[in-house]
Amino acid sequence: MRFCLAATVALIAVHSLCAADLTGKWVVTAAVAPANNETAYYIAATGNTFTGYLKQGQNSSAIADGKVDGDYVTFAIVRGDVKTIYTGKLAGDTLTITLPAGSGRGFGGGRGRGPAFGFGTPPAANVAPAQLTEQIARRVSAEAPPPLPIPPAKETLMPPAAGVKYDGLAKTPPMGWNSWNKFQARVSDQVVRDVADAMVKTGMRDAGYLYVNIDDTWEGTRDAQGNIRSNEKFPDMKALADYVHSKGLKLGIYSSPGPKTCAGYEGSYQHEAQDARTWAAWGIDYLKYDWCSATQVYTPDSQPGAYAKMGQALFDAGLASGHAMVYSLCQYGQVDVGTWGANAGGNLWRTTGDISDNWASMSNIGFNLQLGREKFAGPGHWNDPDMLEIGNGGMNDTEYRTHMSLWSLLAAPLLAGNDLRSVAPDILEILTNKEVIAIDQDALGRQAVQISKDGDAQVWDRPLADGSMAVGLFNLGSTPIPVTAAWSALKITGSWNARDLWAHADRGAGTDAVWANVPPHGVVLLKLTK
Ligand code: GLA
Repeated sequence: MRFCLAATVALIAVHSLCAADLTGKWVVTAAVAPANNETAYYIAATGNTFTGYLKQGQNSSAIADGKVDGDYVTFAIVRGDVKTIYTGKLAGDTLTITLPAGSGRGFGGGRGRGPAFGFGTPPAANVAPAQLTEQIARRVSAEAPPPLPIPPAKETLMPPAAGVKYDGLAKTPPMGWNSWNKFQARVSDQVVRDVADAMVKTGMRDAGYLYVNIDDTWEGTRDAQGNIRSNEKFPDMKALADYVHSKGLKLGIYSSPGPKTCAGYEGSYQHEAQDARTWAAWGIDYLKYDWCSATQVYTPDSQPGAYAKMGQALFDAGLASGHAMVYSLCQYGQVDVGTWGANAGGNLWRTTGDISDNWASMSNIGFNLQLGREKFAGPGHWNDPDMLEIGNGGMNDTEYRTHMSLWSLLAAPLLAGNDLRSVAPDILEILTNKEVIAIDQDALGRQAVQISKDGDAQVWDRPLADGSMAVGLFNLGSTPIPVTAAWSALKITGSWNARDLWAHADRGAGTDAVWANVPPHGVVLLKLTK
């Protein structure tokens, strides 16, 4: 179908004057989500302009500024106040859409980027991997779309005044593995079993990594009674939990307070207590609860209430089954989560948006976005700067040691996010460094603070239960520099012994300061003992 403005116009102008009529429903093929989470563009065209909406599962976003020029299409998707521009190319009833960087969920590139450190300017590794991806949409109908669904009125939910009781879990930051960073929608029963086997074989379990957490995309539909079922990738969750438990490990799962998860699967909205009971019956040990579409059904100030609702449901289900579940809040650090996360029953809460496997993302989250949050962390309730990217290929080993050191100083949950079925020895050595893990797991539970910053040099200090302290000497720049921790900044006096936790070597004693030459993007992590 094409509209041509004037048949008499010279042939040379036909390309720009004839616009394909895009009216109809265009379903995105090869999407990661199954059929019940269809992604489709509903388009109403007039001449060479069009409007409509994008529907992803239950979520709809308006299309604005739609234009057709010959075979080329541009339009914007409007989400809240944000307009994201898309481009596309038309061939018959097939539209190939280029997603703007950041809108897709990309993976890191190949492993490493050359030597662990060097001089001069390092290769361009600090740039986030390009995330441009394409989407193919096929026209399944040429009918004008029904009007944009009217969103239901949003509910305001307040937390109970008394808060949710502490479940006694996560006295130290949880350790384990999560499927999202590496597998995204490709996680399956088999992957989880293989990773559980690998955690035993590689020594990850014995180093303290206990939770095997299934992230988004396990969810199926609800049965006639509203009970949540797993999808075809997970034929029997109870059997899977039994298997994981038989390896001396624990199993985690994922949901959302909204009707849909971030990947468009079934969420727990209005099924909170029922879902908590189902998970307890399966033998689930850990829940990550991700805000996602809850924004469509709750006002923003409902977050403490919505999280407390599930916190209480988990507590009750745990009490009834004798099987308590760690509760991980994932709402990207919004609405001052540190001030209410523990009261909602949370054992940990995300502090930022999603981490990516590159230096810019990891260092921004770790060095900049955790400042001042230390007052909220302690045994049973932790700040979560997001899962580890160690071993996913977008950073070198020096940067991954910085990632591991900083997360341990921050008393962060240590959830590996790489493919443990084929982990390289250098990566395993970083993840299982027992001296570094001991800092993360220190019983005092104090989160490190930045005690000095001088250009690219930063010093972070974490007091430990035995009266010693962990000190990170970091170089955020791209050339080697000496980094110094002065006793005055550490608020100590007298003679202290230094042990290098990556070199596994005692470095003798000092009386006023300690310094080390630190490679680009690197760390020297010390334990100072009186
Ligand atoms: C959000 C979370 C991620 C991951 C995905 C899954 O983006 O922040 O950690 O759970 O959803 O869809």
